Amino acid sequence: MSTPSFPGTRLRRNRTDAWTRRLTAENVLSTGDLIWPIFIMDGENTISAVPSMPGVSRVTLDRLVGHVEHAAKLGIPALALFPMTPPSLKDAEGTEAKNPENLICRAARLLKREFPDFGLVGDVALDPYTDHGHDGVIRGDYVANDDTLEILQIQSVIQAEAGIDIIAPSDMMDGRVARIRAALDAKGLIHTRIMSYAAKYASAFYGPFRDAVGSGKALRGDKKTYQMDPANSDEALREVAMDIAEGADMVMVKPGMPYLDIIRRVHDTFKVPTFAYQVSGEYAMIAGAADRGWIDRERAMMESLLAFKRAGCAGVLTYFAVEAAEVLRRG
Ligand code: PBG
Repeated sequence: MSTPSFPGTRLRRNRTDAWTRRLTAENVLSTGDLIWPIFIMDGENTISAVPSMPGVSRVTLDRLVGHVEHAAKLGIPALALFPMTPPSLKDAEGTEAKNPENLICRAARLLKREFPDFGLVGDVALDPYTDHGHDGVIRGDYVANDDTLEILQIQSVIQAEAGIDIIAPSDMMDGRVARIRAALDAKGLIHTRIMSYAAKYASAFYGPFRDAVGSGKALRGDKKTYQMDPANSDEALREVAMDIAEGADMVMVKPGMPYLDIIRRVHDTFKVPTFAYQVSGEYAMIAGAADRGWIDRERAMMESLLAFKRAGCAGVLTYFAVEAAEVLRRG
């Protein structure tokens, strides 16, 4: 009898060559998983770089079609629109959020006309429109939940009427999903989906985004009375349960990479389409380190996106969407 070889199980066998690795891969990232967040601004004929997000820019509406054409050709399913509102249009109540002629609504009408196959995601919260940078209106020194809901309902309806397919409330007010669903349904907008930023944490990783939309310098204080404490995980499940009960069609965890454990728990518990937002600070970390030659941009990007799939995500909002889709197309 020959001596049995040791070790009997060699997991490295399935890693021997590229084709075996492909055959045995448990997860795969595809272009259909990507949502591309884009920044739009007022003015004409301008593409302006966001300094803290190398490679990301804000575009005026007359440049928008050209800006997204390539993404459409690559087959990216959806865009998420974020406005940089001119300071002159900001006030304490976020009035511009209710204007059917605001940047988001104009962009949505334009994009729907030019690219009917693109899904459009509209962020719902007041921070791009308030002069204090908070996601809701302030009463006393508190971001007032119920008064804010009144505005979010209107903001959601005008966005949906302009062509936004997925309303994505990112404000973290309690009860918003139910109120938004009711407001949409009352207008007959029964097909408008809701992707709630269900577990959104009070995070340091939003810094570059706030530069991009111009809400950072304005922000008074922090958002800890409404965004979640990074210490908490059970609470994320309560947030998600509430949002599903109120009518959310999809849920999101945000930020992404530091919260993969939350994604996994949410997906395992609820089995709903679960998304992650790989936020501006995560993008900046990878882009910044790559710019210094400290990591390989493409490999770090693809690894980070695959990690979201492994954690249970249906898809990812990522500033890398176009670049990742190019890599996927190359194969
Ligand atoms: C608005 C909103 C924020 C982000 C998305 N929607 C900022 C915030 O909550 O302060 C951050 C996205 C990013 O950092 O990429 N409520």
